[in-house]
Amino acid sequence: MVFATSSSSPVIPTLVLLLSLPVLFFFLAPHFLLTRQTVSLPRDEMDDLFLFQKAVAMDTANYFRGLTRLPAAKYRLSSTIRRPKIAFLFLTNSDLQFAPLWERFFSNASVNQYNIYIHADPFVKISPLEGVFKDRIIPSKRTERSSPSLISAARRLLATAMLDDPANTYFAVISQHCIPLHSFSYFYSFLFNLGRLSRNLRFSSYIEILDKEPTLWDRYNARGENAMLPEVNFEEFRVGSQFFVLTRKHALMVIKDRKLWRKFKLPCLNEHSCYPEEHYFPTMLSMQDPSGCTHYTLTRVNWTNSVDGHPHTYYPPEVSPELVHTLRKSSSSYSYMFARKFSPDCLNPLMEIAESVIFKD
Ligand SMILES: *[C@@H]1O[C@H](CO)[C@@H](O)[C@H](O)[C@H]1NC(C)=O
Ligand SMILES: *[C@@H]1O[C@H](CO)[C@@H](O)[C@H](O)[C@H]1NC(C)=O
Repeated sequence: MVFATSSSSPVIPTLVLLLSLPVLFFFLAPHFLLTRQTVSLPRDEMDDLFLFQKAVAMDTANYFRGLTRLPAAKYRLSSTIRRPKIAFLFLTNSDLQFAPLWERFFSNASVNQYNIYIHADPFVKISPLEGVFKDRIIPSKRTERSSPSLISAARRLLATAMLDDPANTYFAVISQHCIPLHSFSYFYSFLFNLGRLSRNLRFSSYIEILDKEPTLWDRYNARGENAMLPEVNFEEFRVGSQFFVLTRKHALMVIKDRKLWRKFKLPCLNEHSCYPEEHYFPTMLSMQDPSGCTHYTLTRVNWTNSVDGHPHTYYPPEVSPELVHTLRKSSSSYSYMFARKFSPDCLNPLMEIAESVIFKD
């Protein structure tokens, strides 16, 4: 799929061949390649590392072929990708309870505009998926709270999506408790600044990055006093939501990383301060490319009266057109695109206002 396009210039195929060598190498010699640097890694992590390295190599090859020019901070939508896609990365450990709502969300989208990937905890039995979700589950592993497994799952989704389609340009991580607050076309136009193409564009990642939070010090020391040193100083440690929308450039950064992962994968000593997935992504991106991130998320979540690290869950009596309008409002210049958490039985009331409210922009 990746090498399907041909080129008329004789230089390009040669270049492509040369640049493809690392990719072939990864395909053909995984064991040789991995044994030297990673003897001590557990089997699970070896699989991941192999996947990430393959995705990085493929991305490098594609970059030079002009297939993924979009990640640069400033660019015009070049002719190389006429139809950039959004990769929707569903991260779940239960049924996709709002699948019918999402199905409607995607019903107006062209297949050239998006891809779907699902990471589903294999230790949980999930009902068969249909429609746009059919056969979209990627090779997944167990995910648990208070462990780095949710970081791994998100990285697995990012790498799989990067490998699968060079046109995947934005990567949106979504949970089974998330609902859309706008139509697909609204979201798509927003991300790609459609209608404003004449200007020099700057494409950012939408991820919450906060440095002032009362529990930050405890969370920094969750793996032991100063265990994060020297890789991460406390001044560099950030918190944010695990649900974000990243550019391809940042997705690549995330799967390339080994330095911070070495620390974030350590088990916590204090489970009550242990939310690795809320720190890893914001900390890394704020260390590597703070100006490339908006520091805001597109996913609304209600932390009022949160209990045990869980945000407010909405139940059917709360679902109304007014709620959707309220949840869209943000303190930044753009609207929220998604919201969580909703209980599964909100599906019916949400479906009832889908066309008249949620997908009406
Ligand atoms: C899809 O398009 C139709 C016709 O333009 C519109 O009535 C409907 O609300 C749209 N649905 C979604 C989910 O955007
Ligand atoms: C947030 O949750 C609280 C209950 O914890 C509720 O009273 C409030 O209405 C919610 N806010 C919004 C905007 O939904």
